[in-house]
Amino acid sequence: MSKPKVFVTRAIPEKGFEVVRDFCDVDLWPEELPPSRDELIRHVRGVDGLLCLLTEKIDGEVMDEAGSQLKVISNHAVGFDNIDVPAATARKIPVGNTPGVLTDATADFAFALMMAVARRIPEAARYVHDGKWKTWGPMLLLGVDLKGATLGLVGFGRIGKAVARRAAGFEMRVIYYDPNEKQPDPSIKATPVDFETLLEEADFISLHTPLTPDTRHLIDSQALSKMKPNAVLVNTSRGPVVDPEALYEALKEKRIFGAGLDVTEPEPIAMNSPLLTLDNVLIVPHVASASTTSRGMMSWMAAQNLVAGLKGERLPNCVNQQVYK
Ligand code: DGY
Repeated sequence: MSKPKVFVTRAIPEKGFEVVRDFCDVDLWPEELPPSRDELIRHVRGVDGLLCLLTEKIDGEVMDEAGSQLKVISNHAVGFDNIDVPAATARKIPVGNTPGVLTDATADFAFALMMAVARRIPEAARYVHDGKWKTWGPMLLLGVDLKGATLGLVGFGRIGKAVARRAAGFEMRVIYYDPNEKQPDPSIKATPVDFETLLEEADFISLHTPLTPDTRHLIDSQALSKMKPNAVLVNTSRGPVVDPEALYEALKEKRIFGAGLDVTEPEPIAMNSPLLTLDNVLIVPHVASASTTSRGMMSWMAAQNLVAGLKGERLPNCVNQQVYK
């Protein structure tokens, strides 16, 4: 019997890819950069399944170009703002994602960014590399402390909670804003507050919210103007949650202490972005989940979702359960 045809939009870790290869007839996009829109459309035509990354915009047009035999779209990410989920639901196509397996890697990374910005580690490293280190100085590269500081989490899902757990070790006070919280978690010491209170009281603000129309540019000039002058902003969620121009102005005028960005708007950041001229921002290329274990598990979960969809079974992690009603 012939195997189902799938398009995989980039090389993924072997842990998941071997599952896909065993079960499917695979068309693998071999390049380092994602397929262009035209290439994507050309390669999805006639496939039974699509395993894609957050770099691909999968909308109704792509689904229709694939054809009515398309049984599943499996995203190699927990976030799925790159996929038009209502369009998939309307076509009865289940969409899979990879929650849980990147929680700790991402929470660790959010903490790493907080610490690096608070203690000015990139600046300090540059100082050494630039040959400026002449002596020990009592006021050299002073930063801000985590111990006893207030951490404000925007979004209190899996990753937000994992960051809160780490904060306990630093004796931080944790507050959070999450309009979607269903039930408070008594195992974590953290206080829900409204958005304005979070902005005004937090010394560290870490973003863990999905990108939706409500959260696009949630951190705009107004929000930034409410933050403390010693505030450190960290974003490991999605770039467009922060207005980059407003952030540049706030950082340039030192209205906040600094920012650590794993994600930017756009991605990759333009090399002429004014943010890249500042010392008080640390920008890295969307790597918060990039531990070998976490990425291996993401590929495995994406493969499980893909194969389940191809077999006509319920996806282990489906973001549009309505397709089964
Ligand atoms: C996700 O899975 O949504 C992450 O952003 C990838 O690291």
